[in-house]
Amino acid sequence: MERTLVLLKPDATVRRFVGANTIKALLDEGYEIHKFAEIQVNRKLAEQHYEEHVGKPFFNWLVFFIMVAPVVAMEVKGENVVQGVRKLLGATLVQNAEPNTIRGKYGIWGGVNVAHASDSIQTAERELSIWLTKTELGEKENGKQAEKYVEKWIQSPRDNTQKLRKICENLSEGKIEAESAQEEIEMLILEENPHTNSQYVTKLAKAIVQNCLID
Ligand code: RTP
Ligand code: MG
Repeated sequence: MERTLVLLKPDATVRRFVGANTIKALLDEGYEIHKFAEIQVNRKLAEQHYEEHVGKPFFNWLVFFIMVAPVVAMEVKGENVVQGVRKLLGATLVQNAEPNTIRGKYGIWGGVNVAHASDSIQTAERELSIWLTKTELGEKENGKQAEKYVEKWIQSPRDNTQKLRKICENLSEGKIEAESAQEEIEMLILEENPHTNSQYVTKLAKAIVQNCLID
């Protein structure tokens, strides 16, 4: 059966309801999650995973972003799963993603776009060989954990996606300062996740602010 690598990026793991909704969308589509692990990415893994983007203007940001908080890595199987998951996620940049896609619903701005999915069957095999051999993802079949994650985290006191987008829009248009954007973003994310690790929130807010200022 065709397989792919899906990573819930730090924006989806810090905002756990976003991660839970993303996993639910995969399961609702009929895909099977065979392997599941929460992994703190180190620089070596980040650089290896994003090898194809070396030299691009957003490369350093990308490596920083993927290390902000633990990611959830999954081996996902199903018919035409590679392109199917890409379609579910939507366009790369959040502003271009259709509203009925995962990135359109929950992405914050630009490349802060919820999840990674391999872009071809060959890429999936390359990426899975890295993640299955060099991280704990390869250890055992533990797809049941994905269902537990959904059950545990799908509820959230609120969804501040639209408010977060507005701040990013204002910041990228130079209407507000980075410092006040950082503070407001932290507050909105904490409001969604009152018990979350505040260091992850601070680092995520920093990654969001930096992304708005890349262009
Ligand atoms: P992914 O690899 O995360 O599934 O995303 P993708 O195939 O849709 O996009 P890709 O071109 O592979 O880019 C990898 C990630 O880099 C960030 N990005 N930022 N600011 C920018 O112009 C820009 N372009 C790409 C995004 O986080 C993207 O997912
Ligand atoms: Mg890609």
